[in-house]
Amino acid sequence: MTSPDLPAELKAALDGKLRGFSRSDAAGRAASISKTYRDGGGSGGIRSETDALAYALARMPATYAAVTASLNALVEIRPEFAPNSLLDVGAGPGTATWAAAEAFPSLQRFALLDANNTLRTLALDLARDSTRLRQINYDRGEARAALTSADAADLVVASYVIGEIGDAERRTLAELMWEKTRNTLLVVEPGTPAGYARIIELRGRLIALGAHVAAPCPHDGQCPLQPPDWCHFTQRLQRSRAHKQVKGAELPFEDERFSYVALARAPVAQRPSRVLAQPAVSKVEITAKLCTPDGLALTKVPRRTKADYAAARRWRWGDAVN
Ligand SMILES: C[S@@+](CC[C@H](N)C(=O)[O-])C[C@H]1O[C@@H](n2cnc3c(N)ncnc32)[C@H](O)[C@@H]1O
Repeated sequence: MTSPDLPAELKAALDGKLRGFSRSDAAGRAASISKTYRDGGGSGGIRSETDALAYALARMPATYAAVTASLNALVEIRPEFAPNSLLDVGAGPGTATWAAAEAFPSLQRFALLDANNTLRTLALDLARDSTRLRQINYDRGEARAALTSADAADLVVASYVIGEIGDAERRTLAELMWEKTRNTLLVVEPGTPAGYARIIELRGRLIALGAHVAAPCPHDGQCPLQPPDWCHFTQRLQRSRAHKQVKGAELPFEDERFSYVALARAPVAQRPSRVLAQPAVSKVEITAKLCTPDGLALTKVPRRTKADYAAARRWRWGDAVN
């Protein structure tokens, strides 16, 4: 299992960039960028070097943690998967690329693309001294146009991107990303009802084109959750001092909520159930909300079934369980 916290090389590169920058300027820019996000302007507020760095300090730890948690789930279901090439769509500061490089030692070639040149410059700077990201190729361009000429990759990742793209374009983008996927496509979104809705729409569209869900779902059928419920997970990550300063936060950790889907070209052999919320533990039983191959289940594991109860005590929200 890969740690959800930023790898040492990336932390050092970010700290290096921060030298010479005022942390209060960075905090001000981070606040303004997140306001633009909340107002629906996506990453359009990231224009200068300070903006890019402020965004990376404020958001990279959390998006990295969400991508890592999703990749860990994928690795658990398909431990034999050893991709050689990665395509990171809407790569921004390169977050998902760093996460994939940690999760898959087999990765050698890293192709990134993004429309934002400021984030591209920062990503290349952060990766400059990396021992892992030696073969990196970062294309600047609008995703659909850039994807048309991109090489196919074993693993394609789109992290916190599809929400920035209009509905019609998003459909074309989903199909283009799938076209460029040799083995597996991972899409990660914020764990909100809207983020989940985008994931579910893309999931259905690509299953119709022959994709199979590797994670989180234990089936390729319709999602059994009914609104206002939605499928999402949470990942805790530690906050560094700089991270706390830029966010104006006190707590030494934060919990990132995310939704994701990993879609594979080949049918998936292992299909364990997925824990959809933190199980409730009482003296009598453990109650867990599970997505199973046969649909949604509220499973109760009585204390008297000692071995099963002991196993269920270890279940955590997001786990794959049998
Ligand atoms: C929220 S950021 C996420 C960055 C990175 N994937 C991460 O997880 O940290 C969204 C990224 O998508 C890029 N983006 C949005 N729309 C795009 C488009 N049509 N073509 C290319 N990149 C796009 C933005 O420039 C930005 O870097």
